[in-house]
Amino acid sequence: MTSEEHTSQDAQQLKDRVNNRSQRPQSAAFKQFMASHWAESATSTHAPDAVAEYSPSRRRAVSERFSGERVVVPAGPLKVRSNDTDYRFRPHSAFAHLTGLGVDHEPNAVLVFEPVEPGTGDDGGDHEVTLYFKPMAGRSTEEFYSDSRYGEFWIGPRPGLEEFEQRLGIRAKDLGELEPAVTKNAGAVEIGGTRIRLLREVDLNVEALVDTSRINTGVDLEASDALDAELTEFCSELRLVKDEWEVDQMRHSVHATIAGFEDVVRALPRAVGHDRGERIVEGAFFARARLEGNDLGYDTIAASGNNATVLHWIRNHDRIEPGELLLLDAGVEADSLYTADLTRTIPVSGTFTSVQRRVYEAVLAAADAAFDIVKPGIQFREIHQAAVTVLAEHLDQWGLLPVPLEEALSPEGQHHRRWMPHGTSHHLGLDVHDCAQAKRDLYLDGILEPGMVFTIEPGLYFKEEDLAVPEEYRGIGIRIEDDVLVTEDGAENLSSALPRTPEAVEGWIAKLQG
Ligand code: GLY
Ligand code: MN
Ligand code: MN
Repeated sequence: MTSEEHTSQDAQQLKDRVNNRSQRPQSAAFKQFMASHWAESATSTHAPDAVAEYSPSRRRAVSERFSGERVVVPAGPLKVRSNDTDYRFRPHSAFAHLTGLGVDHEPNAVLVFEPVEPGTGDDGGDHEVTLYFKPMAGRSTEEFYSDSRYGEFWIGPRPGLEEFEQRLGIRAKDLGELEPAVTKNAGAVEIGGTRIRLLREVDLNVEALVDTSRINTGVDLEASDALDAELTEFCSELRLVKDEWEVDQMRHSVHATIAGFEDVVRALPRAVGHDRGERIVEGAFFARARLEGNDLGYDTIAASGNNATVLHWIRNHDRIEPGELLLLDAGVEADSLYTADLTRTIPVSGTFTSVQRRVYEAVLAAADAAFDIVKPGIQFREIHQAAVTVLAEHLDQWGLLPVPLEEALSPEGQHHRRWMPHGTSHHLGLDVHDCAQAKRDLYLDGILEPGMVFTIEPGLYFKEEDLAVPEEYRGIGIRIEDDVLVTEDGAENLSSALPRTPEAVEGWIAKLQG
């Protein structure tokens, strides 16, 4: 390198050095050639997505609750995994719910509810709703071939404004028009301004846009935070009861998840005795998740032996030894982003030992007791109570409780929680722990209604290092998790096709490994 070249490199701005890998010519001739001689993008009309029959009533609910206010719901940005590579995009669940958009649509998009004269808005509501997003650049633009995050040459075609309008039944505009749409006439309501409600902690750029507008117009930021939190809460509560389309999506996720569990059982002979047997299990399930769905709904727990007593064991890097139990907690997320959440505890050599079976049957009895009470009108929290009462009874029979059963079951006791420290149920849907921002009154203290979907997942976890239990129990962790739909008069186990009893599990393994 000559001294002249050294000088020019020193002078290179630090911010430009990220492009040091690029060898793309900058000449006008190159740019002109790259942006020409491409066939026109195909134009076609698109039928509405099936969800477009259901999503308007979700938006209407938001419109009614926040009449007269501007509501801003971002999809969120791409998230960097390392340096210049991103995670596969997944929109925020509230955005997916209100638009009906699944898979990898649409980084940086924002759904805006603009208040209008009540009753004159979309579908007779109080708002006109617009989806702002970055439409695909044409093939004659530099973005087409040079933008590795958004250009068609790099990531493939993306829908245009018209396509989204036709598929979703929502007006669509270029993201470039977002700023004036969010900030116009914004301000304190007392002086005639339009109040903005923002779904926070989704997109920092949109947060900056809204907060700057608030500061510029004298709106109290702290008070706004509380108003924004109400929107988060409302979007979460809006998903407590699933519509028919959502239930169908969840049936699909459950079906694909069961197929993934079957793949794992078929892979077990290869996994048992392998140094990273848990990874073989994880990989077998992941292949099914990508084949039939968009992704995993959450990181798979493939926990063998004592690892099954680690509630969130996702390292999955250990051996699986013959005779152990494998706790597999996994769920396929459909292309619509709805996920299943199932757990089975599987004897890797095909049959349960007597102590494994004893613990398994206690957990199964707890799950059955919980299922038995599910129907509209009961409180959500009763499900947990039903399950842990049965678990405590078994622990008492085995002589493990240090106090009488009644004392353990009293609010001050709860000694059984040493071996079952988690809740028995959580709502399930777009998020694996769906509706988590709902008020306590509507969640834990809420009353079950038809259309609610949640898990029933009791377990018992006796750690290897647990000196409070006899040795024969140590290193056994068992959970049985099913996904349940509340019906008009009871409950449907959406995952009933996955074997639950010890005999059925053993028969299932024998058949699949036949
Ligand atoms: N897989 C997470 C859970 O069961 O809640
Ligand atoms: Mn769960
Ligand atoms: Mn689970």
